[in-house]
Amino acid sequence: MYGSLVGLELASLVLLALLGWLAGNRASKLVYAGTGEKLRRQTRRLLRWPPVLTVVCAAQAGSAIVIAGSFHKTFWLDRLALHAPLAVIPVLCLWFISVPRLVRLLRDTAGPEKEPLSSDIRSRTADPGLIVPFRAVALGALTALYFAFKPPFPFSLPDAAVPLLALAVALAAIGYGHSRRSRRAAQSEAALPRPPLWRRCLRGLTILAAVVVTAAVPWAIAAQNSKLPERIDMTAGPMDDGKGSTGQGQHAHAGHAEHLAATAGAEAQVSVASLTGPQSQPDRRFTLTAEKQTIRLASGKTAEAWTYNGQVPGPELRVKEGEVVEVTLVNKDIDAGVTIHWHGLDVPNAEDGVAGVTQDAVMPGQTHTYRFRAEQTGTFWYHTHQDSLEGVSKGLFGSLIVEPADDGNREGERDITVMTHAWDGAGMAIGASDGVDRVRVAPGTPVRLRLVNTDNWVRQTYRLVGTDFRVAAIDGTDLNEPGELESGTRLVLTTGGRYDATFVMPDRPVFLSVGGRKDLGVFMSPDGSGDIPDLPAGSSEFDPLHYGKPKETPFGKDSAFDREFTMVLDNELGFFNGQFNMLYTLNGEVFPNTPAFMVKEGDLVKTTIVNRGMVDHPMHLHGHHVLVLSRNGEAADGSPWWADTIDVLPGDRYEIAFRADNPGLWMDHCHNLDHAAAGMTMHLMYEGVTTPYAAGSATGNHPE
Ligand code: C2O
Ligand code: CU
Repeated sequence: MYGSLVGLELASLVLLALLGWLAGNRASKLVYAGTGEKLRRQTRRLLRWPPVLTVVCAAQAGSAIVIAGSFHKTFWLDRLALHAPLAVIPVLCLWFISVPRLVRLLRDTAGPEKEPLSSDIRSRTADPGLIVPFRAVALGALTALYFAFKPPFPFSLPDAAVPLLALAVALAAIGYGHSRRSRRAAQSEAALPRPPLWRRCLRGLTILAAVVVTAAVPWAIAAQNSKLPERIDMTAGPMDDGKGSTGQGQHAHAGHAEHLAATAGAEAQVSVASLTGPQSQPDRRFTLTAEKQTIRLASGKTAEAWTYNGQVPGPELRVKEGEVVEVTLVNKDIDAGVTIHWHGLDVPNAEDGVAGVTQDAVMPGQTHTYRFRAEQTGTFWYHTHQDSLEGVSKGLFGSLIVEPADDGNREGERDITVMTHAWDGAGMAIGASDGVDRVRVAPGTPVRLRLVNTDNWVRQTYRLVGTDFRVAAIDGTDLNEPGELESGTRLVLTTGGRYDATFVMPDRPVFLSVGGRKDLGVFMSPDGSGDIPDLPAGSSEFDPLHYGKPKETPFGKDSAFDREFTMVLDNELGFFNGQFNMLYTLNGEVFPNTPAFMVKEGDLVKTTIVNRGMVDHPMHLHGHHVLVLSRNGEAADGSPWWADTIDVLPGDRYEIAFRADNPGLWMDHCHNLDHAAAGMTMHLMYEGVTTPYAAGSATGNHPE
């Protein structure tokens, strides 16, 4: 709904700009009409335009008003306060200034049929009051469009005022030109001759050149300023303390010593590097070697992959709750460098595996060892966090399953991990299996399907048919008393997210379809054979908001929060690292200008995430599980919904909360990895934490 309203609003503005300009051209041609008859014909035609423009303007204002009526004010403030007036005021001027003049022209030229026009009439045909409102419709709509693609949000006066000033100057210049022409028309003997085509073209080109030259300077400056610095210290840069004030990072543009001095006494300094996992003897040891490998999918298609241990997905790491896990990462030949991030597992900061933030990227020939205690149970996954867009897309990922220490009630459970991934050039697959996997499951067996969407920018739809089922866990956290879902219910999983679907195997086939397809999925039956069941048409979509039964949580929507943040997701046209692009912004900025959220250990934090943009953004906070409090003002009143990756759809507003109980420097980013790679990343920063690592072009670290 929000998406279509925004679309309608934009389309109306485009149409208004185009039609307004065309009508304006007609209006400025009246002065060349030689006779009363011709003038009357042209005037009558011109009078058809205001109603048309009014209809388009009404569509624009109407959509802005409906958005205002149905969404939170973050979604409509600029639309109602800027876009709508920029469309409506010029159209009103049209009716109150231009139209009366046109009507009077019609009336006053009623007499002399073929006679040349009087100088008074001629001067009135070039009256700026008649023409400028048409131009204002076009330029007002253009200005509104500018605001739509460069929202002055969060509000800043220069961002809002400069375009408005430019509009005023342009209209004044147009008005001045027409008043001069009107005077010339009054003084001349006959109708003004229409300037020859070449002169009109020349004039158009001159105006265009002037606009381009004026815009080129800010354009070049913006491009230059957006270039990523050689070294980016993640603790520098703008910050937001969640208490209503924003400022520059602790030691932005300052030396380390100054930084220490500035914060001395407040808090002891802790380096990210010292926030390691347990150094005791590990219970489990794994080695993951990152290497290039040509992989062959089940269909025989091949893909050039980057792998852990030569396989896709990487080996499944299955450990028990409480175990100390040690993973040694070896980079054999991934020239871009590699790390391992434990997505969803809230490990100590130094083990988080983010290049440039918690470690340096591991280059070919190097190794890095991670150690953590597996404290949460459930379905997690690991992936590289160095140049993640390329690395994860090419295959540097695997699953990490933490089984409960006491899994008495999971005895005999059939446990199947389903990691869906799109292989470049080879298409969608479950791991390396790009067809239907047939597995034998005896009737009566409890089954757990661990769905992991490892993709980039694909909201993957899974459908389980042949049995009713439950969603037992989201993002690794068990749900409380999850209810039975009907066979065929759509499970739409965002990138990075996980659902555990459970059921007891019936005595007929069950099929897990990926992407609504019958030729991609997991087929289960007692002997592995049988027909793939049909997918029911039009079944409902699973929504965690009211699913399951409530249960006590350590905090909730009525808790007293120590910090409250707002995170506005949006899109705008602009530069990232020197490239002009559609940018996906966090609070109006892209990395490294996105503000870091500052917290102190122990704080209870609430964040309101608002998506004003046109596409969904799965927001992923490292190191913490967040509790969803509400969506679009509706309380989450089912099972507690703990998540690490929240898919915020256009027009959605989530309130989430978490306890700041894991000190460090944590990435908070969109898991549509190409959004992250284009700057949709920010940080959660604990007071007093420093990092010896840095990102930036000179460092070889690319955390996104
Ligand atoms: Cu799954 Cu920051 O990543
Ligand atoms: Cu995104």
